[in-house]
Amino acid sequence: MIEKFELFLHHHLPHVESVHPHFNTAMATMMQCGGKRFRPALLLSVVEAYTPLLREAAMGAALSIECLHTYSLIHDDLPAMDNAALRRGVPTLHVTYDETTAILVGDALNTYAFELLSTLALSAFTRIELVKLLAHNGGLSGMIIGQAVDCFFEQKRLDLETLRELHRNKTAKLIAASLEMGAVIANREDLRAPLYAFGLDLGLLFQIQDDILDQTQTPEQAGKTTQNDGDKNSFVNLLTLEGAMQEATQLADSLRGQLNSFEAPLQRALVTLLDTYLYRHKEMKPS
Ligand code: IPE
Ligand code: IPE
Ligand code: MG
Ligand code: MG
Ligand code: MG
Repeated sequence: MIEKFELFLHHHLPHVESVHPHFNTAMATMMQCGGKRFRPALLLSVVEAYTPLLREAAMGAALSIECLHTYSLIHDDLPAMDNAALRRGVPTLHVTYDETTAILVGDALNTYAFELLSTLALSAFTRIELVKLLAHNGGLSGMIIGQAVDCFFEQKRLDLETLRELHRNKTAKLIAASLEMGAVIANREDLRAPLYAFGLDLGLLFQIQDDILDQTQTPEQAGKTTQNDGDKNSFVNLLTLEGAMQEATQLADSLRGQLNSFEAPLQRALVTLLDTYLYRHKEMKPS
């Protein structure tokens, strides 16, 4: 399924006719050079479980999330934010080109995400729900306020519950929205709230694992700049590496239990993906 998504992405990359010598290349590079495609896989799994005939439209929705996510990474790496030189195994766009290109490629991917959603072969009601979910969770009430708090509180200690809230905003809400958008496309109103709640925990786990990865992986292993969270409120900095590992394992165990409460088709569609991710922190022990 993810191979099909990769192909779809290749054929639906944003592209603009202009005299700019490298704008399209810069956009395509960051979209195509790697990335686990975790959020698209979540959305597509839900649709696959219930309405495989809607796969093609779901691909467009999955791509819109990946565009928004990629934009968030490009901006996250800017000197004014995390100042990182490596992303998805390649130099960041502000390093290869300049900050202007990186900012504007991010802006382009952000808005293209919503253009894509608005033109899907789905009902107008469904498209509006998808736009609303992505805007809410990937925007002001999710990723953006999370990033703002993350950067503002560098070198200022937050308490653990505030840090959980920060991680929910900057990372978990977009992951939760990916699952809920799958439920919206599959027309399963009853699954929207449970999948969103599951996704918030899954997304919190995902960011705790990312904090562990920053501490324990080399840039070559991670494909991105690591050892970069020194000034951050990260789970590793607040709880120690051991404490962050424990918190991750507790959450993963709880998610395994929650998965068992879903209907069989949904469990089947999600289990392989979740097996890869739930305990990935255990493979991140320092070498
Ligand atoms: C990195 O996300 C940023 C976080 C929200 C933790 P991913 O780990 O999904 O990055 P890619 O998409 O695989 O590059
Ligand atoms: C970024 O979190 C979350 C985003 C919304 C992009 P991080 O700053 O920890 O992500 P990485 O470690 O740079 O991928
Ligand atoms: Mg960051
Ligand atoms: Mg970062
Ligand atoms: Mg990180």
